[in-house]
Amino acid sequence: MNSDSVLHAQGAAQFVDDLPLTAGTLHAFPLVSTIAHADIVTLDFTPARALDGVIDIFTVKDIAGLNQTGNKAVDEVLFADKRVVYKGQPIAIIIAKTAAIARLAASLCLVDYKPLPIVVDAREADRLGLHIAPPRSFTSGDIDNSWSDCDLVVTGSAETGAQEHVYLETQAAIAYPLEDAQLKIISATQAPGMVQRICARILAIPMHKIEVDVLRLGGGFGGKEEQATPWAVMVALAANKLQHPVKITLSRAEDMRFTGKRHPYSADFKIGLDKAGKILSYQVTYYQNAGAFADLSLSILERTLFHAGNAYFIANLQATAISCRTHLPPNTAYRGFGAPQALFILESAIFKAAQVMRVDASVIQRQSLIQSGQAFAYGMLAEHAQAVPSWKQLHKDFAISEQQESIAQFNQEHHLEKKALAIMPICFGIAFTAFFLNQADALVHIYNDGSVSISCGAVEMGQGVKVKLRAIAAQIFAIDPARIKLESTNTTRIANMSPTAASTGADLNGQAIRIACEQIKQTLTQQAALELKVDPALIGFKNETVTIANNASDLNWEALIVLAYMSRRALSAQAHYATPKLNFDPKTEKGNPFAYHVYGCASVEVTVDCLRGIYQVDRVNIVHDVGQSLATEIDLGQIEGALVQGLGWLTTEEIIYDQSGTLRSANLTTYKVPDVYDAPDIQVKFLDKGSNPQGIFNSKAVGEPPFMYATAVYFALLKAMQSFRHEYQAEFSAPMTVEKVLLGLHSE
Ligand code: MTE
Ligand code: HPA
Ligand code: MOS
Repeated sequence: MNSDSVLHAQGAAQFVDDLPLTAGTLHAFPLVSTIAHADIVTLDFTPARALDGVIDIFTVKDIAGLNQTGNKAVDEVLFADKRVVYKGQPIAIIIAKTAAIARLAASLCLVDYKPLPIVVDAREADRLGLHIAPPRSFTSGDIDNSWSDCDLVVTGSAETGAQEHVYLETQAAIAYPLEDAQLKIISATQAPGMVQRICARILAIPMHKIEVDVLRLGGGFGGKEEQATPWAVMVALAANKLQHPVKITLSRAEDMRFTGKRHPYSADFKIGLDKAGKILSYQVTYYQNAGAFADLSLSILERTLFHAGNAYFIANLQATAISCRTHLPPNTAYRGFGAPQALFILESAIFKAAQVMRVDASVIQRQSLIQSGQAFAYGMLAEHAQAVPSWKQLHKDFAISEQQESIAQFNQEHHLEKKALAIMPICFGIAFTAFFLNQADALVHIYNDGSVSISCGAVEMGQGVKVKLRAIAAQIFAIDPARIKLESTNTTRIANMSPTAASTGADLNGQAIRIACEQIKQTLTQQAALELKVDPALIGFKNETVTIANNASDLNWEALIVLAYMSRRALSAQAHYATPKLNFDPKTEKGNPFAYHVYGCASVEVTVDCLRGIYQVDRVNIVHDVGQSLATEIDLGQIEGALVQGLGWLTTEEIIYDQSGTLRSANLTTYKVPDVYDAPDIQVKFLDKGSNPQGIFNSKAVGEPPFMYATAVYFALLKAMQSFRHEYQAEFSAPMTVEKVLLGLHSE
C-alpha cells in the first residue's frame, strides 16, 4: 500500500491548494499571450489596475536578476519581453485579493500585438531551419554498406501524438516572505532544488535564503520536472515585493493551455532484414516538436537516440534526431522521456517489414532480441540481458500460442468483429541521461524514543517511493516500518537535490539512505557490544532486538537508542551517493550512460467492432523485470498504471493544436483519458529469478518502462483491422482514435 493511501481515502492528504491560508494571503494569475507568435507593441494595464481588489502587476521590469528559467539550454524567459512565442506564454503576473479578481484583471489587460508567422509542425520548422540545436546522430556498424547484405529493405514514416499529463493536482505554489528577505515556497514540483535555484537566479538572491518544501504531489508524470518552476518563481517574486504570502493554482483548462506536453514526433525509417526476418540494419530520422523553448527537449531527444533500437540487437544502426522549434508551449518530460516515441517508430518499421514478408511481427521481434554480451548502438554492453527470458516466460506463463489459436478461431466465426494479439518487448536504461544528476543525499535522525526521521530528495507523487525508502531503512535497522517517517522534500534539509525523475527516485535516494542508516548502525553496534560485553562482530539486529551470534539478547531497539543517547553518541547521519561507473563521450556518442537496463515483454489482445470502428483492449499479459521487488504492490501498481497511461496515449488521447497554435482539446471533455472501463484485464508476473547487483537491494527501477508495453495496443489494432479488410494499408500515426479505425476500415 502507498504510504498516502489512507490519507487519500479519507480525503485528508494535503496538496498545495488544501493548505490553510495565512492571513493576508494574496492570489496570483498570469496574463498570458493570446497569440502564438507576435511582437508586443503596447501593454496597457490601466483598466486592470483600476479593478477593485487588484494589488499589483509584475512584468519583466520587476525582475532583479536574470529573466531566465532555462536549464539545459538557457533560452526560456519567465515573462515575455517584447515578443511572445506561444499562446499561453506568461507576460505578467497579476496579484489581487482573490483569485477571481486576478483572473478578471487578466482579461482587462490591453495588449497590442503585431502578429508574426506561426509554425506548429516539426517538419515545417525543420524546413525553415528552426532548430533548438544542431541535429545529432548515433551510429553503429556500417549502415551505408549494410543494405546490400539485406534480403529485404523497407522504408516508411511514422508519427506519434502529444500527450497531456493530467496529473490530478494542477500546477500550484504558495510563497511566504520570511524575515531578512528570505522566502519559503511550497511548490507542486518534482524538482524542489531547481525551483530554489531558478528562483534565486531570477530574484538575484542567494539560494540559502530560499526554502522550497514539497509534501507530496497529486501526480507529476514528468509534467512537474521543469514546468512547475515558473509558477513558483512568479509567486515568490510577488511575495518578495509585496511582503505578503502569494498563492497560485491553475484550473484544469488553464493548466492544459499554458503548459507543455509529451513531444509529438514525426520520423522516416528504413529497415533491412535477412531472409529469416532478423533485423540487420535500421536507419531513422526523428523530427521532434519541441515547442517554443528547449525545456528538456534535448535530453529527451538524447534518450530517444539511446532507445532507437529498443530491446533488439541491430548490428547497423543510424539514428538522427532533430529538435524543431515551433510556436507551441514548450513540450516537456513525460513518463518514458522520448523512449516511447523511439519504440513506436521502430515497431512501425517492424510491422511494415512483417507485412511485406507475410509473417507475424513477432517472428522479426523474437530473432532480433538482444543477448548478454551484445552491445547497444551507444557502445554499452547488455549485461544480464533479460529480453529473451522475458519473452520466453511470457509465452509460457500466459500460454500465448493457445491465445493465438482461440483468436484465429474467433475471427473465423465472426465477420464484423475481429480480434488480434501483438507482442511488445521493452528495454529501458536507468540513470539520468544528464550525468551530473545521478547523485543524491539523505539525512537520517533517530530520536531518543526510537522513532526515525528521514529526509531525502525524493518527491512522493503517487509512485510510492516513500514506501520503498521506508522499507530500505526498516530492513537495515530491523525495525517496524511504522517507526520510520519520511519527511517532506525540503531544500534546507537536502541541498542540490536532483529532480525525482528518470525512474531513479528509489535507486538514488535509497542508496543514500542506506549509507546513512549503515553509518548509524555501526555506532549502534558499538554501543550494543559494549553493553552486552561481546565482540561487535557478533552483534546483529533482528525483529527490533539486538542479537548475539544470531540469538536474541534482551536488549531491544528502544533501550539501545536510549543507551546510545545517554552515552552521547551521534544518532544522526548524512550521506551522499553517486551512481558508479557511468560515463559517456559525446564526441563518439559511446559509453555506459546507464547503471543497468530494465526489460520485459507484454502481449495485448484487442477486439475491433468493424462496423462502428469502436474497439476494446481485452487482455494484457506482462512479464516485467523488477529485479527483487522492494514493494510488490507498489511495483504492480506502477506497471498497471503505466500500461493504462500508455494505452491512452496510443488510443483516445488526441491533442489538437490548430494552425494558429490554439489548443482545441483544452479540457477533459474534448481530451479523453482512459477511465476504469477502458482499463483491460491486466495480468502481471515478475520475471523469474530477477536480480540486479547495480540496484538497491537487488531491485530495479519501475516507474517509466512499463508505459511502453502499450505500444502493442496500436499494432494489435492494425492487425485486427487487416483481418477485416485485407487490403488495408497500415498507417503509423498514433493515437489510433475510433475515427481513424472507422476511416481505415471503410474509406475508399
Ligand atoms: N506514478 C504515479 N502514481 N504518479 C506519477 O506522477 N510519475 C512517473 C512514475 N510513476 C508518476 C508515477 C514518472 S514520469 C517517473 S520518472 C517516476 O514515477 C518517478 O518516480 P520514481 O523515480 O520514484 O520511480
Ligand atoms: N529522465 C528524466 N529527466 C531527466 C533525464 C532523464 O533521463 N535527464 C535529465 N533530466
Ligand atoms: Mo519522469 S518523465 O522522468 O518525471
